Amino acid sequence: MRRMSSQTYAELRRQAVAVLKSLGNEQPHIDVRSLLSHASGLSRSHLIANAKDKVPPLVAEKFKACLARRKTHEPIAYIVGEKDFWTLTFKLNRHVLIPRPETEGVIEQALKLLDKQANARILDVGTGSGAILISLLHELPRAKGHGIDISKPALETAKHNAKRLGAADRCRFSVSDYLGSIQDRYDLIVATPPYITDAAMTALPKTVDKYEPHLALSGGIDGLSAYRAIISRLPNVLKSGGHVVFEIGYDQKKPVSNLLENAGATNIVCLQDLAGHARIISAKFF
Ligand SMILES: C[S@@+](CC[C@H](N)C(=O)[O-])C[C@H]1O[C@@H](n2cnc3c(N)ncnc32)[C@H](O)[C@@H]1O
Repeated sequence: MRRMSSQTYAELRRQAVAVLKSLGNEQPHIDVRSLLSHASGLSRSHLIANAKDKVPPLVAEKFKACLARRKTHEPIAYIVGEKDFWTLTFKLNRHVLIPRPETEGVIEQALKLLDKQANARILDVGTGSGAILISLLHELPRAKGHGIDISKPALETAKHNAKRLGAADRCRFSVSDYLGSIQDRYDLIVATPPYITDAAMTALPKTVDKYEPHLALSGGIDGLSAYRAIISRLPNVLKSGGHVVFEIGYDQKKPVSNLLENAGATNIVCLQDLAGHARIISAKFF
């Protein structure tokens, strides 16, 4: 690549798009725009307005380092260190899963089940970056929350996000192996547990396999280990009339419904994604 400091933003973008395209990247324009925006600190509209300006050498160097990481398939969210989820932006690192758009269905369903002004107590199991819990607290001004995870570095990330996003005084975080260390009872339990089967774990896309924490993905031989562990303890951890909302894999509606029914759940509801797969399941316990 030519010395970048002699290039304009437009030239740099064109060149970088061609590099990513040649490596099979399916959205090189979007990726290059995100990386250049991150490296320069300029918004997308500023990048367009400044397209003919020369790129300052420090920006060019930072962009070059980001592009090198993207060339090895590292997800953009880890390179720029953040990801938008629901209405907020969460700081990320390699200890936490990148929050997925489909997980926003957990928030939608939880908000349908809870009264906005209720003093609800919410438990987020496998909180990761804290995306689900902090988004719910942002929507529910009187609610309080508890995020648990088996990963200490993930909990540090969630705490950092809670502080940045103004939720720290309404939530706490602690280590727990699923519901094993939970003594209190909650109105709502939310979780996007690891649900990928052992067989599917051997065929993950490169960008997921190499960079995202396998602890956040692997659901055991049939993908249901986490659901079994969580559901078996729900009657001891939910208040009477409390709800659980899970994200599930596209083919897990039946087995997870069965586990819930066998544990005594009622009002089992599934929400489908745009492809018609049930991806969110909620239930009530008395
Ligand atoms: C699929 S990720 C979901 C992260 C976050 N809730 C989100 O939606 O972006 C699953 C999370 O469960 C955590 N986890 C894995 N095994 C666990 C266990 N035995 N007990 C508690 N958390 C666990 C992982 O560390 C990870 O943060």
